[in-house]
Amino acid sequence: MKRTIAILFALLMLAGMVTTAFAQGSLPVGIVLPTKDEPRWLQDEARFKSALTAAGYDVEILFSQGDSAKEKANVESLITKGIKVLIICPQDGTAAAAAADAARRAGVKVISYDRLIRETASVDYYVTFDSFAVGAAWGDYLVKNASGKGNNLYLYAGAASDNNAFIFFEGAWSVLQPKIADGTFIVRNSTEAVKLMSKAKLTREELGKIIGQVTTDWNFSVAKNKAEADMTKAKKAYKGTTFICAPNDGTARAIADVYAADRDVKKFYITGQDAEVASIQYIINGKQSMTVLKDVRVLVNDAIAAAVAYLKGGSPAKTTTYNNGKADIPAKPSAIITVTRDNVKSAIVDSGYYPPSYFSGLE
Ligand code: BGC
Repeated sequence: MKRTIAILFALLMLAGMVTTAFAQGSLPVGIVLPTKDEPRWLQDEARFKSALTAAGYDVEILFSQGDSAKEKANVESLITKGIKVLIICPQDGTAAAAAADAARRAGVKVISYDRLIRETASVDYYVTFDSFAVGAAWGDYLVKNASGKGNNLYLYAGAASDNNAFIFFEGAWSVLQPKIADGTFIVRNSTEAVKLMSKAKLTREELGKIIGQVTTDWNFSVAKNKAEADMTKAKKAYKGTTFICAPNDGTARAIADVYAADRDVKKFYITGQDAEVASIQYIINGKQSMTVLKDVRVLVNDAIAAAVAYLKGGSPAKTTTYNNGKADIPAKPSAIITVTRDNVKSAIVDSGYYPPSYFSGLE
């Protein structure tokens, strides 16, 4: 009896110590982000830091710098340091499966952050925005601004190694395809998209064919070169007013600068996402037409809440699942907001997302 009480007491002490450790600020959680070269992930780093500081937690954030081997080494070093939960945004969704497997073998819960790790069952949870809605918002914006038939449409996509690039494109296609099929738009820069124009729902392989042709690799110079090649190739009649489906803000600015410099392009509409500061300024100045605000604060809070749920022995909230090629991963996708010149002030500044001092000419 005495022994049982002693063991119980020791266990309670241990539980107490765990709770105290939480309160004192060390969460056994590690965060791995893909690269500092794509501005989106600097937003996430900053928002993670401020949320964790506010909550009094000290958590290590490592960057993989676009290198899956470095990503794996980062994960292994965090495992060695004793993390219990890994929050990881993969550089390459499929290559990251090995890192997720290593974490799973070490008893670490794996939260795929923003991008889904593919082809492994070692993913416990997926923290994400509604990426299909992001692409659909691009489609809606372009369709809303087009009238008549035969409008010039140029498609660009994210990196084929990023599962999101497929979901964004699928969302965009869901809105654009009927308008390509009925002649409202004519795709000018993808023979694969033209071939598939009467197909409402594309397989992953079909999506891959189009993406393979119009990928930016999430890279500004690739985007710029592709846009330049498209403009060099296009006849004058394929310019005039153009509609450009661009996959994120960084690539949108690179592409927009090319179209703006072409004297045969009289007017263009161009999409984006991430609400990057530079793109908000472009929108204010009329150089980019729209962006999609994905409030990174929400994603960061969801990721921290999911980690804490696991540490307390529970599991995070789930509203749906995403198939990663091997398993259905539970998730609770967050809403997105379309931002144009019309609502930029209320959505970006009045909402407190960025201070007004970041921008000029906002009124
Ligand atoms: C993210 C986007 C980002 C892109 C390039 C995607 O996976 O969802 O927000 O712009 O990667 O970094």
